[in-house]
Amino acid sequence: MNRETFSGRKVLITGGLGFIGSNLARRLVGLDAHVTLIDSLIPEYGGNLFNIAGIEDKVRVNISDVRDEYSMKYLVQRQDYLFNLAGQTSHMDSMQDPFTDLDINAKAQLFILESCHKYNPDIKIVFASTRQIYGKPEYLPVDEKHPLRPVDINGVNKLAGEWYHLLYNDVYGIRTSVLRLTNTIGPRMRVKDARQTFLGIWVRFLLERKPFEVWDGHQLRDFTYVDDAVDAFLLVAAADDANGRAFNLGGDCVISLKDLADLLVEVNGGGEYIVRKFPPDRKRIDIGDYYADYSLFRSTLGWEPKVPLREALGKILQYYKQHLDKYL
Ligand SMILES: NC(=O)c1ccc[n+]([C@@H]2O[C@H](COP(=O)([O-])OP(=O)(O)OC[C@H]3O[C@@H](n4cnc5c(N)ncnc54)[C@H](O)[C@@H]3O)[C@@H](O)[C@H]2O)c1
Repeated sequence: MNRETFSGRKVLITGGLGFIGSNLARRLVGLDAHVTLIDSLIPEYGGNLFNIAGIEDKVRVNISDVRDEYSMKYLVQRQDYLFNLAGQTSHMDSMQDPFTDLDINAKAQLFILESCHKYNPDIKIVFASTRQIYGKPEYLPVDEKHPLRPVDINGVNKLAGEWYHLLYNDVYGIRTSVLRLTNTIGPRMRVKDARQTFLGIWVRFLLERKPFEVWDGHQLRDFTYVDDAVDAFLLVAAADDANGRAFNLGGDCVISLKDLADLLVEVNGGGEYIVRKFPPDRKRIDIGDYYADYSLFRSTLGWEPKVPLREALGKILQYYKQHLDKYL
């Protein structure tokens, strides 16, 4: 079904040199789509040219910024699909520099949508939203009906970005769907620091044979392997009954961070970590336990995670054992 849907079609991915965007680009190239990647390659974010190693001749890369209204006006034209993944992802950075987060995660999203409205209203858009918009869960697992009360600036701006997308669907008939991602992990994630995911820095330290830090350790989380996330993006892009709707993604299991650290060390065949108290500035914006109820997405489109966590960790370690130097 994916090949029929995407073969020969024009696909634009914002944030296409980043972790999820580049994995999506690889899959779409394999499906014979004509893929264009937009990415600003701001060094603090997850974009990395090495993420497209091996497909660099099969995609068009446009190094530009989604905050640039004029670029966006031009770039969305004549595209069939837009996977809108460009974002500032660090929760701490959003607290220290709220206006950059606002500009990228909210204002630029309006540029993109306005450009589509004026110049390409037939495009189908999938927006990468986040579980962060729910804030501290009032009940678990968190379904799409859970109240929205983000605990940080990033969550508020992503929520605005998400709602702009839904509004353009409802008011202007531009087909948009939203995926609310939980922790997504896999090859090509940022491991240099913890800006994108704490698992990144864990993997880096483990491979550098240094102890990594687990803060608190009791928090419960779920994890989606990136190939499963890519499946989800393709599914909603192709499905008209997903238009104007937001769906949670989730993981195959729920695990505490301490148990995750143990599993990672076990899969690696060795390594050490230390448990520390949460730093106070992080504690203030921590959401506590979170795991998603993704049954709406499963019953609507049949999506469920296929890659077990242990296997996901094995694939991640294998990738960075080979390529860690490209990510430092
Ligand atoms: N990885 C996760 O666990 C996770 C969880 C929830 C939501 N998300 C969302 O998924 C999307 C992709 O995340 P990711 O994990 O691949 O992160 P990432 O940082 O690897 O990818 C984002 C990409 O966007 C690019 N970008 C940032 N600002 C830009 C700008 N102004 N103009 C053009 N490009 C810009 C970055 O250079 C980067 O390549 C983000 O929108 C993020 O909020 C990710």
